[in-house]
Amino acid sequence: MGKNHMSRREFLQASVAGLSFMYLPGVGRIKAYPFEFAESGDTFGRLCFNENPLGPSHLAREAMKQAVDEGHRYPDWFSSTLETKIAEHHNVSPNMICAGTGATEIIRLVADAFLYPGDEMVTATPTYSQMAYEAAANGATVVHVPVDERYMIDLSLIKAAITENTKLISLVNPNNPLATIFTKHDMRIFMNSLPPGIIVVVDEAYHHYVHSPYYESCVRYITGGFPVIVIRTFSKAYGLAGVRIGYSVASGGHTSMIGSSQNIGMVSRLGQAAAIASLNDSDHVDNTVSLNDHAKEVLMNGLHALNLEYIPSETNFMMFDTGMSATSVASQLANRGYQVRVGWGMPRHIRVSTGTVDEMYGFIYALQEILGQNSLKDGPPMFGLDRVRPNPFTRECTIQISTLGAERVRLVIYDAAGRMVQSLVNGVMTPGVHDIVWNGRDVRGRNVASGVYVVNLMQGEFATSTRVTVIR
Ligand SMILES: Cc1ncc(COP(=O)(O)O)c(C=O)c1O
Repeated sequence: MGKNHMSRREFLQASVAGLSFMYLPGVGRIKAYPFEFAESGDTFGRLCFNENPLGPSHLAREAMKQAVDEGHRYPDWFSSTLETKIAEHHNVSPNMICAGTGATEIIRLVADAFLYPGDEMVTATPTYSQMAYEAAANGATVVHVPVDERYMIDLSLIKAAITENTKLISLVNPNNPLATIFTKHDMRIFMNSLPPGIIVVVDEAYHHYVHSPYYESCVRYITGGFPVIVIRTFSKAYGLAGVRIGYSVASGGHTSMIGSSQNIGMVSRLGQAAAIASLNDSDHVDNTVSLNDHAKEVLMNGLHALNLEYIPSETNFMMFDTGMSATSVASQLANRGYQVRVGWGMPRHIRVSTGTVDEMYGFIYALQEILGQNSLKDGPPMFGLDRVRPNPFTRECTIQISTLGAERVRLVIYDAAGRMVQSLVNGVMTPGVHDIVWNGRDVRGRNVASGVYVVNLMQGEFATSTRVTVIR
């Protein structure tokens, strides 16, 4: 196989090192302003892995519960029922499907089957890098072709990078992290002009989220006899990232090569049950996509209101230009509970996953705070602590807040040591902008001492704070 295990380890280390670009809870998180007094605690938005905020489908949950009772029994060693079900889904023969523990395992199997030292693999940059790691780990040379000025993979440039050593072309459609597609028109031209003997791998992890009429899955090329391998995952629209299932669709010949280095029984009993059930639950995929569309709209409106440029997205994540150091903005977002990704040689861009609608509102507010802007003032009513006037004050101040929906609102004053001084609001309010007066007294009616106080506004999963100074 020509596999270089040391290289693989080094590359895995490199990919783990890449996690330093991602802000994870507890990893370098500074528990400080503005959430030091927020009761709702840690993470509000895990917006760094492009997961499905709805979770697994109802049918998959039920199937997994039932499979638990059979947890002591080995699974179907070859995932035969699952592969047959996937084959039906794509209208191909079961010998054209190889199921594995996530697309991640399939990517390794594909590299093991087709890439040897001296081979070249052509891919785009930036893109999802797992295939490049696996190719390099197998001793192949990876040729990175930059995306075009619209952040789209340029198939004519990919073709121009082909040499006599090119064995495999790796494409991600829609691409990650850019969320753009290459068009079916360009792909047809590309496929019809491809020199013989080159395999084209297309990772379609985000297939379900695409709405563009210019997109199509590349499964059609496989049934048309072209040397194409499509990789799919259950981690995204099916909401099974933690269960680890992915698969390839390829010709029977390619599929047996892909499966040849796979250990038997890799896909767990729970995983097989969940994936089979998920394929029966197209409603869940539809709900996932419509939630994604809605959340993405909130995100786009927010970014627009903040005058931030974004790359139009065909996926469940989006790249936007912060106009400043993305690492700095990302770490401040992490302090506010929002985990995002930066990197890919794009120092001002952040990749944010579309979570729930509430997460998107919270994210935009956190971003607004960080950017120190007030450009959402004229937009739709949103959650926030708008201003305190006068500040500093002696007798009384007015705190302007914006509230959202039906959830209880709490507006609390703390002293610098974190002790509660006064509770100004604790109940349901009509959504909108409210002026709340604080007369500078504590809960017992005594004038508070001179000093800095924290004003903390909470509603549901949202929380924000500001400071006010009392001068006696
Ligand atoms: C393009 C792409 N392919 C594959 C994967 C990994 O999929 P899996 O969870 O099935 O290993 C991801 C994960 O984010 C991805 O973005």
